[in-house]
Amino acid sequence: ELVAHAPKYQWPHGDWIESFDARSIRRGYEVFKQVCAACHSLKYIAYRNLVGVSHTEEEAKAEAAEVMVTDGPDESGEMFQRPGKLSDLFQPPYPNEEAARHANNGAYPPDLSLITNARHGKEDYLFALLTGYCDPPAGVTISEGQAYNPYFPGGAIGMPQMLYDEVIEYSDGTPATASQLAKDVSCFLKWATEPEHDQRQRIFWRIFPVISVLFVATWVVKRSKWSSLK
Ligand code: HEM
Repeated sequence: ELVAHAPKYQWPHGDWIESFDARSIRRGYEVFKQVCAACHSLKYIAYRNLVGVSHTEEEAKAEAAEVMVTDGPDESGEMFQRPGKLSDLFQPPYPNEEAARHANNGAYPPDLSLITNARHGKEDYLFALLTGYCDPPAGVTISEGQAYNPYFPGGAIGMPQMLYDEVIEYSDGTPATASQLAKDVSCFLKWATEPEHDQRQRIFWRIFPVISVLFVATWVVKRSKWSSLK
C-alpha cells in the first residue's frame, strides 16, 4: 500500500522526562473546540480534566456551561437540557455513527480520544496528516467528496483539509499559522490520549531514588554475604 511515513518531529513532551506544554494544550483545545469538534467526538474527556492542566477551575466551568447537556429523567420521567458542569464529558457532534456518516459523504470521523495511539507514527502522524494535503500525483484520481493526503493509508481521505493559516484566532495572540494549529491540536490530543502522562512521570521520579537505593543495598549485601565463598 502506498503511504508516506510521517517524519519524526521534536515535541515539547517526551516519553520519559519532558512534561506537557500547558500553553500548547490550551491553544490545542481552542482548535479542537472551534474546528474538529464539528465532526469528531472526544468522548473520554470531561471538563474537569482541563482543570489544572490548561484551564483554571473557573475557566473550565465557563467552558462547560457553554454546551447543553441532556440529563434526566426528572421526577416526572422527562429528559431535559441543562448547561454543562465540570463533571460532564465533551458532547459528541452526532447522535450516532449513521448520522455522522450521513453528514460526511459516508466517511466516519472517528472519536479522537485514542488517535495519537491509533496509527503508526502517533502524534507525528497526526501533524503530518493535518499539514500534508496536496494535489494527487499523476495517475491518481480522487473521487468526489474525497481529498488526497499521502499520509492517509490509501491516499484518498474523506476529511478535507481543515487547517489553514488563521482559520481561528488564538486567545493568547500566538500567530495561528496552519502548522502552529496542527502542532497545538496534536499536543492537545496527545494529552487527551494520556491525561495521566505527567502524573506517571512524577510518580516515577519519586520512586526512582528509593528503587536505586534498594538496588545498591541489595548488591552490597549480596557481595558481603558471598565474599567468603570466592
Ligand atoms: C478523519 C483529525 C476536523 C471529518 C480524521 C483522521 C484524523 C482526524 C486524525 C484520520 C483518522 C485515521 O487515521 O483513520 C481531525 C482533526 C481535526 C479534524 C485534528 C481538527 C483540526 C474534521 C472536521 C471534519 C472531519 C471539521 C468534518 C467536516 C473527518 C472524516 C474522517 C476524518 C469524515 C474520516 C476520513 C476517512 O475515513 O476517509 N480526522 N479532524 N474532521 N475526519 Fe477529521
